[in-house]
Amino acid sequence: MTTPIRHATATAQPNIALVKYWGKRDDALNLPAAGSLSITLDALHTRTHVRFDDTLTADDIALNGRHDATQSRKLGAFLDLFRARAGITTRAHIESGNDFPTGAGLASSASGFAALAIAVDHALGLNLDQRELSILARRGSGSAARSIFGGFVEMAAGTRDDGEDAFATPLLEAAAWPLEVVIAITAREKKTVSSRAGMDRTRQTSPYYRDWIAAVPADLAAARAAVRSRDFESLARTGEASCLAMHAVMLSARPGLIYWNAATVGCIQCIRELQRGGTGVFFTIDAGPQVKAVCLPDHAARVVEALRGVAGVEDVLPSGLGAGARVVEADA
Ligand code: PMV
Repeated sequence: MTTPIRHATATAQPNIALVKYWGKRDDALNLPAAGSLSITLDALHTRTHVRFDDTLTADDIALNGRHDATQSRKLGAFLDLFRARAGITTRAHIESGNDFPTGAGLASSASGFAALAIAVDHALGLNLDQRELSILARRGSGSAARSIFGGFVEMAAGTRDDGEDAFATPLLEAAAWPLEVVIAITAREKKTVSSRAGMDRTRQTSPYYRDWIAAVPADLAAARAAVRSRDFESLARTGEASCLAMHAVMLSARPGLIYWNAATVGCIQCIRELQRGGTGVFFTIDAGPQVKAVCLPDHAARVVEALRGVAGVEDVLPSGLGAGARVVEADA
């Protein structure tokens, strides 16, 4: 079947989980073992251009201006999910770029796969709804299912083997509770153990893995209630507990996964000090050394200032909460 050459450009922002996802119930379909809850940011962006081209014999994929064979295979398999739905085999040119460090615990895979899902859907004229797009984005990366939406988002683990009930839904829009996030960059290198490999190692080897997964539903219920009632103290308590529990189970894998550096710990101590002084702030950290300080809007300037002073912090990026993935340019 011949497809007209079609292209689209989409943008998506990373999200930061406040109730963390760490562990899969199915590797092939990328199904999470537990739910999660996140906020989508507005200051960091992935922009992805897709162009389907009948003259291509293989997908031509450039990420941040570079061609990488491993990433191309992974993205090619992701594109196949959409090609199967469209009933085509046409290959595509893809150019995707981030305006922030890639693969360093800033959720570049979340914004990357969300932007790609939206761009490909549009370029192929599939018109999938947000639920289907979230399910497809999840196949690329579990956290990408959440970046389809803006504001506060909940991801369901689902129970079905086919994963059709494992998708994200919006909980509360960004404008309804405009919290700020201050990201302290403590290293710019790519992490040495990917989330996928780290989750697998944790599930296979940590004596605490089952306890970690069993504890997530209570954190989800508490965080969901805190978001609905805009209860910052409660969200702070649950968010820090979920983050520390995830890092505890990572540390207990064999060999242990240590994503932090000295400046990560320095930031945690700085945030604890701010809390003692009455600042509305709490920390969360993903599979990398960066620290994300979630704060009340009026307290963000104080948090930026304090984190700038922590030894080893290379940069501090303030962000508000932002919108979901969207098409920014389309052409037929
Ligand atoms: O889906 P991935 O591979 O981006 O893994 C996400 C894992 C964490 O960022 C550590 C937690 C989360 O829920 O985003």
